[in-house]
Amino acid sequence: MVDIDFLHGGNIYEIKRRYKKEVIDFSANVNPLGLTKAVKRELSKCYRLIPHYPDPEAKDLIGQIAEYWAIEEQNILIGNGSIEIIYLIAHAFKPEKTLIPAPTFSEYERAVKSVGSKIEFLKLREMDSFTLNITNSDKADISFISNPNNPTGNLLVENKKLVLNSKLNVIDEAFMDFLPDERKRTFIWEAVKDKRFIVLRSFTKFFALPGLRIGYLVAHKDLIKRLKQIQPPWSVNSIAQHLARILLNDRDHIEKTRRLINEEREFLFNKLAALKRLKPYPSVANFFLVNIIDSRLDSSILTGRLIQEGILIRDCSNFRGLDGKHFRVAVRSHRENIKLINALREILCRS
Ligand SMILES: Cc1ncc(COP(=O)(O)O)c(C=O)c1O
Repeated sequence: MVDIDFLHGGNIYEIKRRYKKEVIDFSANVNPLGLTKAVKRELSKCYRLIPHYPDPEAKDLIGQIAEYWAIEEQNILIGNGSIEIIYLIAHAFKPEKTLIPAPTFSEYERAVKSVGSKIEFLKLREMDSFTLNITNSDKADISFISNPNNPTGNLLVENKKLVLNSKLNVIDEAFMDFLPDERKRTFIWEAVKDKRFIVLRSFTKFFALPGLRIGYLVAHKDLIKRLKQIQPPWSVNSIAQHLARILLNDRDHIEKTRRLINEEREFLFNKLAALKRLKPYPSVANFFLVNIIDSRLDSSILTGRLIQEGILIRDCSNFRGLDGKHFRVAVRSHRENIKLINALREILCRS
């Protein structure tokens, strides 16, 4: 049993402090290919950027994102990870009432609570395959929709006709890049013209930059103006701005990542499903939510045992709407996925 109550995955530092162990990190849903050679090469030159302030407007990067999506620069705001933008939204619009699905990414709740919002949680039920069921009565100032949803891995908005009734609907597409048909699924083109939508995108997951902190938002230009008024200057450092540009241009890397995740997602799902006391839920993203169907085992015990094997998973017991029978794993490289499956098989046999 571990007494670690991490709010999020990816806390390899705490594991190192407590267990003096290096782990394969299945708890943060980050591209297993890591940094490309081109990025590593560029990084060695980035020291030149450090004695200067970053471009406060992030002009070059914004220009490139605008080109990538064929939208206007005035519709884009760069942030210190999409997390900065989630808090900017809460503070700029100060919702009285917010709709949040459960389970989902916990920072929506923290962000709007910090401005005193009331929250209505929309329960995603296993028996409905965690789909979102919004009715005409579900109205609020803001709703936060993670699409695909963390931690369940499904699209909450599959059909763009789904009623999204709030005055402002924030569609968080942190994992959307992993979908080969993301251009069909994204709300980016709705958001540039319709003030009821904001889209969040992240460089963290798909481009494996969690340590640099960079993401962006796409919205109507009037909303961008309001958000800019409260954003601290220079919140995105120059190295992050520079490397994000290189990654966004790298079509080969983007395709290679999608192919890898596609193949390994299927492999990992089948192997997890074959372990009799585990039930993975289908996912379109680069991670799975898994249910433990075993009265003697819970996610905390399992997390502790896997740490001893050098593997870190995300215990999901602190997600609103889940319990100690759930954990989440990222899709990683073939070799690492096999390691995870072997360790799980061994632990399940012993328990
Ligand atoms: C759904 C979702 N949105 C946003 C974030 C934050 O990402 P970033 O690193 O861009 O701040 C996360 C991180 O786990 C997430 O799961």
